[in-house]
Amino acid sequence: MVGGLLILACGEVGPTVEPVVEPVEVLAPAPPPFTHDDAIASALAQAPPELPAENPSTNDAKAVETGAALYEARCAACHGILGDGDGPAAAALPQRPADFTDLSRWTATNHGQKIWLLEKGIAGTPHAPSKLSHEELTDVLAYVESTFAAG
Ligand code: HEC
Repeated sequence: MVGGLLILACGEVGPTVEPVVEPVEVLAPAPPPFTHDDAIASALAQAPPELPAENPSTNDAKAVETGAALYEARCAACHGILGDGDGPAAAALPQRPADFTDLSRWTATNHGQKIWLLEKGIAGTPHAPSKLSHEELTDVLAYVESTFAAG
């Protein structure tokens, strides 16, 4: 009885299966994981070498005052009112905003390089090219430097 069933099963002619050639999709290689150092290095790769090392407005009280208002309106949501990178919007970002009280990080780039980064944007971060003018960015960095990064 069992043998008969087997013969029956083997004798059945199944539907003809046409070979199907699956289209091969060539995927782009996965992007490497974000690292802060790589993001800054590649953003600075095109920067001219003769950028000013020092912020000319750090000790200019008027510039610092203007910078404070700009900072509160345009930077504090992410970088925090205390400049420590813990603003209310920080948790939702792909990486932690710079902590301006961390002097080793602050001094890793000079003034002109920071302006360059902000004006051109930093790929892979929320920093699109800034809508602030060169002078406004100078003021806001003067505030940050004299208030949070003063050591
Ligand atoms: C939407 C959130 C957000 C806002 C708003 C923002 N930043 Fe940032 N910022 C970041 C993040 C995130 C990084 C860290 C990128 C990284 O790790 O490389 C960063 C990095 C920087 C850096 C690079 C220095 C470093 O060591 O990473 C500077 C300078 C900076 N911000 C200044 C500012 C200033 C000035 C403003 C206001 C005009 C501002 N940012 C507004 C999120 C923000």
